[in-house]
Amino acid sequence: MKLIEGKPIAEAVYRECLETFAMLKEAGHVPGLAVVLVGEDPASKAYVGSKERKCQELGMHSVKIEKPAETTQEELLAVIDELNADDSIHGILVQLPLPKHLNEDEVIMRIDPAKDVDGLHPVNIGKLAMDDPSGFAPCTPSGCQRMLIEMGIETSGKNVVIVGRSLLVGKSLALLMMGKGEGGNATVTVAHSRTRDLEALTRSADILVAAIGIPKFIGPDHVREGAVVIDVGINRIVDASAKNGSRLVGDVDFDAVAERCEAITPVPGGVGRMTIAMLMANTIRACRLRAGL
Ligand code: GUN
Repeated sequence: MKLIEGKPIAEAVYRECLETFAMLKEAGHVPGLAVVLVGEDPASKAYVGSKERKCQELGMHSVKIEKPAETTQEELLAVIDELNADDSIHGILVQLPLPKHLNEDEVIMRIDPAKDVDGLHPVNIGKLAMDDPSGFAPCTPSGCQRMLIEMGIETSGKNVVIVGRSLLVGKSLALLMMGKGEGGNATVTVAHSRTRDLEALTRSADILVAAIGIPKFIGPDHVREGAVVIDVGINRIVDASAKNGSRLVGDVDFDAVAERCEAITPVPGGVGRMTIAMLMANTIRACRLRAGL
């Protein structure tokens, strides 16, 4: 069994980022990312904090906009309008999920597609569906695909089963992996809560992707001997023996599944590392496109 670790692959992405970054800086451009956080969700706060730290580490311009949970739709749309008009900002990310009273789709559609480094605007999702590489692909799916490419895992003609149909991960990853580019040309099936006989389906997968958000949902009965398993889940569970009373686990029961796999991503230290790396890469690319370089 091979462990697919996120760190060295993310570092390869950062090396590319720094090269492009140096070229941009020389030409007088500094990539800027704005992250918008509404409310107090602790997991979202932690993600936003790590995005900000990474921007600073790379020397990028970084803006964090924190709004209270009671923020209205109009107020949030006004924030987006301001960021769309701000020439120092090349990427805008609105941390999801938003509080229930807000309309997420309307907020995402308000973002200038050229600044939508999260790749969730319909223009970017549409370009992904059209195999048009001029758009931005969502960060977690492109991170998963990059991991497969870097590990030399062939996807062309392979059966890929993705469990989970969110736009943020499952549905977008399906578009990427059935696309015609590198890390694509797979035969993709997307399973979800209504899928019948899930175990039989997931056992047909050469590459199985778990993106459902249920701790340790995928067990040995779901996995064919010799499959590649990509675990997108990041779930915090109570664990009295852990230092702070909780720990992170994936959507895959790693200990029960790992020995069957040809390769598997750990949690933490797997896909999670890639999401921020791809966000930085998208932001630097947004700046480059804007600069016409
Ligand atoms: N929440 C969890 N993952 C993500 C992500 O990739 N983008 C955004 N905007 N929100 C998230």
